[in-house]
This record gives sequence, structure tokens and C-alpha cells, in this order.
Amino acid sequence: MKKVFVETYGCQMNVYDTELVQTILTKNGYEAVKEETAADIVMLNTCSVRDNANRKIYNRVHEIRRGRKSPVLVGILGCMATNFKTDLLDNKALKIDFIAGPDSYKHLPRLISEASGGEKTFDVTLSEFETYSDIDPTRQTGPNAWIAIMRGCNNYCTFCVVPYTRGRERSRSPENIVEEVERLVANGYKQVTLLGQNVNSYSHEETSFTNLMDKVSQVKGIERIFFTSPHPKDFPTDLLKLMAERDNICKQIHMPLQAGSSRILKKMNRTYTKEEFLGLVDHIRSIMPDVHLSTDIILGFPTETDEEYMETEEVLKKVRFDTAFIFKYSERPNTTAERLFKDDVSEEQKKHRIIRLNAIQRDIRLEKNREKIGKDQEILVEKIGSRRDPNEIQARNEGNTVVILPSNKDISVGDLVMVKITDATPDVLRGEFV
Ligand code: 5AD
Ligand code: SF4
Repeated sequence: MKKVFVETYGCQMNVYDTELVQTILTKNGYEAVKEETAADIVMLNTCSVRDNANRKIYNRVHEIRRGRKSPVLVGILGCMATNFKTDLLDNKALKIDFIAGPDSYKHLPRLISEASGGEKTFDVTLSEFETYSDIDPTRQTGPNAWIAIMRGCNNYCTFCVVPYTRGRERSRSPENIVEEVERLVANGYKQVTLLGQNVNSYSHEETSFTNLMDKVSQVKGIERIFFTSPHPKDFPTDLLKLMAERDNICKQIHMPLQAGSSRILKKMNRTYTKEEFLGLVDHIRSIMPDVHLSTDIILGFPTETDEEYMETEEVLKKVRFDTAFIFKYSERPNTTAERLFKDDVSEEQKKHRIIRLNAIQRDIRLEKNREKIGKDQEILVEKIGSRRDPNEIQARNEGNTVVILPSNKDISVGDLVMVKITDATPDVLRGEFV
């Protein structure tokens, strides 16, 4: 049994982890294949941040098993592995051969070999030290390279499962990160995205996140730097000034608001009030007037009233984020919210709120995208071929918005070029080469 396939769910950290897993396995004699059906060992790198993730994975396991003539080993990796280990092992109808949590990927060769012997195996121990800094990921997702600079989370927002699935915060050394960026540049990469569950809580000995950004942006040849996902609590002025100063740091900030009511924010343990959040947005814009802001919102957190929901609406209208990812609250096992609060906002109310807020945000986004018509922007080419036309070019601007361009034989994936924006929908911009 030598051919492996990893299917990825969830966040960018999981995308990165799949790349780590591929390196670990190929170094140990396995061959990574591109099709699930061609593999002898199939792994699902799972997410458990919201609702139906489990059901989706259970269905997928059945689907993989069905219609297989030759035997296949099925493994569960990622956040569900830590959080649902017992469920996964006890479920008789579900045949899982091995389970590995986010800090156990170096043990995969052993787990797989034990599972090949017919034994169900697992390792979901969380580590305070594992950063995989000695593993060079097998990159496979186009011209952007993900780099995890820290892992884990110490914040304990009451709704969130991540501290339980991914453990305590730990950061890689700046030297090790800078070396990785230099290697990437040598291999032709122009864009990196620094990743962490709390990316701006990065801290390694004397090096803060601001110091790290300074070092990374000084690497010769790196032209675009993004980072995600930050927490609003860690945006010192020196970081914002550095972002404004450096051409290669993209003026894009993800600022997860979660809720507009200060009472709900307190219950969520977010450590800021509505007023503080709005003050921070003003401060950021005073330093970077053209910054692109995105956010995450949770609707229907326990006890959220209609009036409190309206405060979220009010903040969205005030800030006018470029993008908002809006979710219905979903109770997660083991979290403080699950233990202390009743999930008492009805599904109907949550649905009503999400439809309303998505419509408002769609209008804002369309307006903001239309403001860009006629402007020149620098884009990074990601793909040749759009949903509409195999020859159109798909790219991303500095605000991480998709820009579609007409076919052009002189352009290839990874090129950075100036374009003029000619049209806008809520989801994409269209442009032409200048
Ligand atoms: N219910 C709904 N949304 C959640 N998120 C995290 N946990 C939950 C939950 N229990 C959302 C948050 C977070 C994003 C990654 O997922 O908005 O920022
Ligand atoms: Fe999902 Fe959070 Fe785990 Fe990422 S860290 S895979 S978003 S639960």
C-alpha cells in the first residue's frame, strides 16, 4: 500500500498542513497521487469549526469505501481528529483505520504501517512545541505560498473549538521563516501568505509580529505579503505604519468582528467593545486610507436579541467592509459556550438574520467594487481559464479580490501586472491590461 491521497477541508492552515503531510509521506516512501480513486490510502484533513462538518466527513468516508474493489485505508486528520476521536473510533458503521491530530503528522508513517496490519490506530496528542519548522511543504496551490509562522490559540473565544483541536500558541523562529521565504523566492514565488490561528500574536523570544513582518518584507524578490487570520486585539501602531510604508506588504486586513453588540462580545470573550472596534477601524484607515478590510460575523450567538443583531448591522454599515464572511452560530462540543449557554436563538431567527445581513453586505460590496472602475491596480495571475471561458485570465488584486482579464498569450501564472478595472459585480472585478 503505497499511493496516498489527502483531501482538504476547512481553513488555509489545513491547506498548508496537507502540504506538510505530503512531504512527510513522500520522504517515507509513499507516492502522492492526484485522484482519490487511484490511492491505496485516503486521508481526509478535516475541520470542525462549524455545523455539519462531521456529517459531511461521515458521508465522504462511506462514499470512498463504496464501489472499491481493492482494499483502501481511510484516515482522519485535522481538527475533527482531536475533537471527535472517540466518536470516530466508536462508530461501528464507519470504518476508519487511523486518526492523526494536527500535531501528530510526523507519526503518520508509523500509524499507517500499524493500520496496514489491521489495527485501528490513533495519535491526537497536542504539543506545545511542534511547528514543523524542519518540514518543507510540497506546495501545490498556484503562485501563492502559504507559510505557517505560528500554530494554536490561547484566546478561548467562548464559541470556538480551535484551542481544543489545535492546542497552545507556539511560534517558529524568525530565521527559519526568513530562510523559507528566501527559498521560495529562489523557486520563483512572488507572493507569500503568513498563516496562524492568531497570526499577529506571533512572538518568538524578542521578535514580535511587527519585527517579523519587517524582516520578511526585506527579503529581496518578495513582492506581495499577506497575513491571516489576525485578532483585533494585536494591531499596534508600529505594525500599521510598517504596512503603510512597505510596498510589498498588501494593504489588506482581516478584522473578525464576530458581533456588533458589546454585551455579546463580552459573552464571546472577544476582549473589545463595539466602540473599541470602530475606533481601531478609524485608526487603521487614518494610517492606510485605501486599506481593504474583511471580517467574520457570527449571528444568533446565545441570548442575542433582535436589537443586538441590529447593532451588528449598524457596524457593518458604518465600517463598510470589502468582504464579510457571515455564519450562523453553531454550538461546538467542549467550548465554554456549549457548557455555559443555551443555544437559544431559533434556527428561523438565525436564517432571517443571515439572509438580511448577506443582502446588506452584497450591496456594500457592489458599491465598493464599482468605486474601483477606471482605477489601475496591480494583480497577480493565478489561473488561466475562468468559469465562463477557458482562455480568460483569473487573478487577484492587493485586496485579495478576484479580477478577470481577457485572454493574453504573453501572460502566465505568477505574473504581476498592472491592469485597469473596467467592470464590477459583487464578487469579481473585470479588467484590461494597460
Ligand atoms: N459557530 C459559528 N461560526 C463560528 N466560527 C468559529 N466558531 C464558530 C461557531 N461555533 C467562525 C468565526 C471565525 C470563523 C473562522 O468561523 O467567525 O472567525
Ligand atoms: Fe477548521 Fe479552525 Fe481547524 Fe481551521 S483551525 S480546520 S477553521 S476548526
